[in-house]
Amino acid sequence: MSNIAPRGLITAGFNPSPTRVNSDSSADGSLAPASLCVSSGLCSCGRRRFIEAAVAMPSLFPIRPSKASAASKLTSEDYTAMLEEVHPPRPGWYEELYASVLNTAMKSYEAEIAGYKTELFAELKGKAEQVLEIGIGTGPNLRYYAADSGVRVFGVDPIMKMEKYARAAAVAAGLPLSNFEFIHAVGEAIPLEDASVDAVVGTLVLCSVKDVDNTLKEIKRVLRPGGLYLFVEHVAAKDGTILRFIQSVLNPLQQILADGCHLTRDTGRSISNSGFAAVNLQTTTLSSASFVNPQVYGIALHNQCRLGRSSDSVREFLLVLRHCRLSVSSFLSLFLDYVSGY
Ligand SMILES: C[S@@+](CC[C@H](N)C(=O)[O-])C[C@H]1O[C@@H](n2cnc3c(N)ncnc32)[C@H](O)[C@@H]1O
Repeated sequence: MSNIAPRGLITAGFNPSPTRVNSDSSADGSLAPASLCVSSGLCSCGRRRFIEAAVAMPSLFPIRPSKASAASKLTSEDYTAMLEEVHPPRPGWYEELYASVLNTAMKSYEAEIAGYKTELFAELKGKAEQVLEIGIGTGPNLRYYAADSGVRVFGVDPIMKMEKYARAAAVAAGLPLSNFEFIHAVGEAIPLEDASVDAVVGTLVLCSVKDVDNTLKEIKRVLRPGGLYLFVEHVAAKDGTILRFIQSVLNPLQQILADGCHLTRDTGRSISNSGFAAVNLQTTTLSSASFVNPQVYGIALHNQCRLGRSSDSVREFLLVLRHCRLSVSSFLSLFLDYVSGY
């Protein structure tokens, strides 16, 4: 298990590590779902990215480090300042009410999304030990992945009132509280080391963050190479539809009632364009979510590895082909790139 520690001493972490690893550095990665392939829809991957995605099967493809970036030097004061700037404290009664409503009013939604989440979180089984959940809220996802032995969860949320619900959800999920840490912070400035977690989970949160792109950057920074970002987000309906019109009208009210939640964000596109090696994104509509539709869900792979040129290379190449649905051009790109190494 890798060492990991919240940065800037915002909270007392477990396994504190004095070493900081740069976000683009060479931490070895070994996590990737065999079923994760480049999606044809919103995926923005180019040829290099495709290859990086395709080599995500750990024991088969050696990781090669890319250039290291300068480590960020944020202190606990910086994180606190970011928290206050991005999500200034709301009145206590508002936060309490919001947390309590979230805890009770989402039951029918959770029941309807359960099948999707079960499938999605199955990708983490036995593969992710250090998991960060951004905007953990009351912790409705913990039951899907936290019971795995050895899993440690960092739950980031700017609303302290969520903590008691999230801790209760952790206990109910069978996660020892010694393996759960609630971190009072925002997704735009995550107080964790670079490349320190195996997976990041975020559900219904990019609608609420102040800066979607910065949050996605932070997610990539804390993910180790080969790490996974699992998401479920509601997004704007198609332009010109009645639903989109309703969303535009309700958007200001929604932000007041639901702690800054935006109904009209094109979050799927933001995720697809944020520089992950591969994004597998699906869209669905949930009857329990009413105008908070459609919803996108899926997995993004954070990878900075390249195809190895080992003696098993033909086997590696064949496995890539078997696990990924390739367009003809992707296949040719992969093939040319691969043989050019000889
Ligand atoms: C709609 S709730 C979703 C909670 C939970 N993920 C779920 O699926 O039920 C949005 C959550 O995002 C949190 N949040 C709001 N702004 C945030 C930010 N800038 N960074 C991280 N979390 C944020 C809220 O406090 C809230 O817990």
